[in-house]
Amino acid sequence: MWRQKIGDFIAIAFTGMFVVIGITIVVSTVFLGLFLFTQAAWAADAQGNDYCFSCHGVEGMSIKYQDQVISLTVDEDAFNNSVHGKLNCTGCHNGTESFPHQTQYDAGFKKQMAESCAKCHNDITSQFENSIHGQMGGFVTCTTCHGPAHGIIKGDNKEAPHNRFNITETCRTCHEGMVIESYERSFHGIALRYEYENVPTCTDCHSSHNILPVDNPASTLSAANIGSTCEPCHRGMINGGENLLNGKQHTVPEDKENGFPLWITWKIFLGLILFDVVMNGTIPTFELYRHLRNLKSRRKETSVTSSKSI
Ligand code: HEC
Ligand code: HEC
Ligand code: HEC
Ligand code: HEC
Ligand code: HEC
Ligand code: HEC
Ligand code: HEC
Repeated sequence: MWRQKIGDFIAIAFTGMFVVIGITIVVSTVFLGLFLFTQAAWAADAQGNDYCFSCHGVEGMSIKYQDQVISLTVDEDAFNNSVHGKLNCTGCHNGTESFPHQTQYDAGFKKQMAESCAKCHNDITSQFENSIHGQMGGFVTCTTCHGPAHGIIKGDNKEAPHNRFNITETCRTCHEGMVIESYERSFHGIALRYEYENVPTCTDCHSSHNILPVDNPASTLSAANIGSTCEPCHRGMINGGENLLNGKQHTVPEDKENGFPLWITWKIFLGLILFDVVMNGTIPTFELYRHLRNLKSRRKETSVTSSKSI
């Protein structure tokens, strides 16, 4: 009786142990397999970019397209240091896995590449597509504001075209005249020039990817939204609401037609300065004249008295 119970117990314990060891072996094998597989895949990927650079790393590689010389050389250092440096080339370039490629450099390729950012930056792309810039049939693309496709760097890098201190220059490539001049002469623009961080650049007011004309209700500067766009920096402006649009943002004092209040203030101050110069300028002039005359007559007096004393 006793013996049988002990025998059963040992049998169950051993069977259990073998089952547990069996399961452990199966699970470890699966995980080891998975691990080796991902390592191999990673190694293949790492080799992947080297494969591309074996041709595209060569200086001066180019083709002719519509009478233009298109460089096919990709700067390896610039690419590796870019935000996308850890990506596989083929993540953006389908159909180039082997040579000859299934792709071809043509209008279709350019269009497809311009749209390729959507794969990973979905939200930004859909915002951009609704913006005024996104509605221009490819005239403005992501790389217009983010620099060459293989050298995109982080915005906190001073060299990046979307770094806040470079945004004016980036917009200036297309927008010129009053819009830029007025900004550069404004409190905001001057403070930014002296590298003050907490002052708005173009995109803090207009947004970066959702730029719309001000009369579009979805614009960050529409009657409904302008107050809350200024509010983070100017507390209380939200109460100004649509009144903030009664004045022109992009104007300079010389612009009488659009910036009359500014123009008239400028003229009044010019008048005051002129008045001040004339009024206060004459007093020292007369005073100096009087002083010189006094000095002259006093000198005459002294010479008379001294000649008398001889
Ligand atoms: C054996 C050399 C060679 C290798 C390796 C190579 N390419 Fe190319 N690539 C070329 C040549 C030559 C062209 C010029 C046009 C053509 O023949 O397709 C080209 C063109 C391209 C183009 C422009 C579109 C086109 O098809 O013309 C892209 C994009 C491209 N290659 C990406 C890659 C990527 C990504 C890799 C790595 C996965 C790679 N290439 C590997 C030689 C190579
Ligand atoms: C983040 C996506 C992305 C990655 C990653 C990427 N490319 Fe590109 N590539 C582009 C875009 C966008 C264009 C189109 C640029 C244009 O219109 O001038 C392009 C164009 C090209 C061209 C055509 C010539 C040119 O510059 O217009 C070649 C060749 C090329 N890429 C090779 C490579 C190689 C090699 C790698 C890997 C080292 C790579 N690309 C990685 C996005 C990418
Ligand atoms: C395969 C996925 C992928 C594609 C395609 C891709 N990106 Fe990216 N991108 C990323 C990842 C991942 C990061 C974040 C990198 C990090 O934070 O280190 C990033 C970061 C960025 C940044 C951020 C810079 C900053 O200031 O932080 C910009 C700008 C950018 N990408 C633009 C583009 C553009 C333009 C294209 C199309 C030419 C593109 N990306 C295509 C994956 C992608
Ligand atoms: C009119 C100029 C402009 C265009 C066009 C543009 N961007 Fe930007 N982008 C900016 C500016 C400015 C910033 C930095 C300020 C910010 O974060 O809003 C930025 C920031 C980014 C960032 C990093 C910040 C974040 O929110 O993750 C990514 C990623 C990005 N852009 C991707 C794209 C993609 C993808 C496209 C095309 C669909 C695109 N951009 C088109 C101006 C632009
Ligand atoms: C303080 C917020 C603010 C800043 C900063 C700002 N804008 Fe504006 N922008 C506005 C407002 C508000 C309007 C509506 C018209 C107006 O008031 O002048 C406008 C209108 C515009 C318009 C269309 C109307 C026109 O006058 O042509 C363009 C284009 C524009 N801005 C571009 C820019 C650029 C480029 C920059 C950077 C150099 C910039 N803005 C900086 C607030 C701003
Ligand atoms: C590649 C050229 C290009 C670049 C770069 C560019 N824009 Fe534009 N933008 C345009 C064109 C073209 C229009 C439409 C014509 C117009 O209304 O001025 C436009 C329209 C606008 C409008 C609406 C104007 C209106 O009628 O109300 C604003 C605001 C604007 N852009 C701001 C910016 C800002 C801010 C930047 C920089 C971050 C910028 N743009 C960079 C080409 C460009
Ligand atoms: C990112 C922060 C920021 C945003 C957003 C911002 N401002 Fe400013 N603004 C400043 C700072 C900082 C100064 C002071 C600059 C200086 O000292 O030269 C200033 C100065 C001004 C001035 C002149 C000085 C004064 O206080 O009378 C006016 C007017 C003004 N802002 C209007 C606006 C309007 C209108 C908006 C919204 C469309 C706006 N600002 C959005 C930061 C901001």
